[in-house]
Amino acid sequence: MKHLEEQVTQADSLGSLEKIRIELFGKKGALAAEFAKLKDVPGPEKKAFAEGLNKSKANLQKLYDERYELLKKEEIERILKAEAIDVSLYSNLEAKGALHPVMATMDKIIDYFIALNFSIEDGPKVEDDFHNFEALNLPKNHPARDMQDTFFCKDGGVLRTHTSPVQIRTMLETKPPIRMIAPGAVFRKDYDLTHTPMFHQIEGLVVEGKGEVSFANLKAILSDFLHYMFGEVEIRFRPSFFPFTEPSAEVDISCIFCEGEGCRVCSDTGWLEVLGCGIVDPNVFKAVNYEDVSGYAFGLGIERFAMLLHKIPDLRMLFEGDTRLLEQFR
Ligand code: PHE
Repeated sequence: MKHLEEQVTQADSLGSLEKIRIELFGKKGALAAEFAKLKDVPGPEKKAFAEGLNKSKANLQKLYDERYELLKKEEIERILKAEAIDVSLYSNLEAKGALHPVMATMDKIIDYFIALNFSIEDGPKVEDDFHNFEALNLPKNHPARDMQDTFFCKDGGVLRTHTSPVQIRTMLETKPPIRMIAPGAVFRKDYDLTHTPMFHQIEGLVVEGKGEVSFANLKAILSDFLHYMFGEVEIRFRPSFFPFTEPSAEVDISCIFCEGEGCRVCSDTGWLEVLGCGIVDPNVFKAVNYEDVSGYAFGLGIERFAMLLHKIPDLRMLFEGDTRLLEQFR
C-alpha cells in the first residue's frame, strides 16, 4: 500500500493524477484486486483483512482528494499568471483624435443658438444667382457685388460667397415666425493672413410679425452671444452697409490680445471686428413674398472666431493639417 500512497502524493500534474486514479480506484484497479483477494482469506481473518483494506482505501481517497485540490489550485494560478494583462502598461499605439478647432468653434456657437430655440438650416454650396445675390437685394450690375470676389461656375452657378442664401431658401420653404441659423462652408477668391478661399460662416435670421423685431433685440442677443464666446469684453456696434439689411452694423469686441491698448492684431485700434448684422431690408422680404413682417439677420466667420479664441496668428494654419497645431486641441 505504501507505494500506492507515494504514487498519489507524488503525482505532478492533474493528468498523471487522473491516470493514477484509474489505476487505483478503477474496476480493474489495484484496490479492486486487493478486495478480490478477500474471498481467499480464511474465515477468522476475513474481518480484520477487510477492515484493513477499507482503511487503506479511505486513506488513499483522502490523499487523492488533497493532491487533487493542490494540483487544481496550482493549475488555476498558472493560467491566471499566463493570461494576466498589465493594465498599467503604457501604450502609445492608439493616438486619440480630436475635433478640428473650426468644428469645435462651430459647435460652441451652435450650442448657444440651439438653447434659444433656433433651428439649423442648410443649403447647397453651389448656388444660383437668385439665392446668392438677386433675392438678397443685389441686382445684376449692382456695385456691391464686388464686395465679395466670387468663384463662378461654367453653367452660370456660383460657389456661394456667404451663408445668406440659406435665409432666402428657408423663407421660401417655410412661413414666419422663423428663428434659424445656417452654418456651412463659403467660398471667396481671397488668400492672405486672414483669408482663405474656403471658410465657414454662421448665418442667423429671425422673422416675426410687423413691428415685433427691433434693432434693440438684435443688439441684445448679439451682445449676450459675444459675452458667451469671449467673456468680459467691450462690445460696440458700428454703422455699416450690407445690401440685404437696413440699417446695418458691424460689431467689434475690444481686442482680446491687448485689452484695448492697441496692438498688431487690432491694427492699433483696440477693436476687433467679429460680425455683420442688421434689420432685414424690405426688398429681401419682397423677393420671398413676405408681407407685414419684421426681422433681423447676422453673419459671422467661424475661422475668425477660432483664431481669436485660440490666438492662432495665421488663418491659413487652420487648413494646413499640421499635426503640431491639431494635437493641441486633443
Ligand atoms: N453675408 C454677410 C457677409 O458675408 C454677413 C451678414 C449676414 C451681414 C447677415 C448682415 C446680415 O459678409
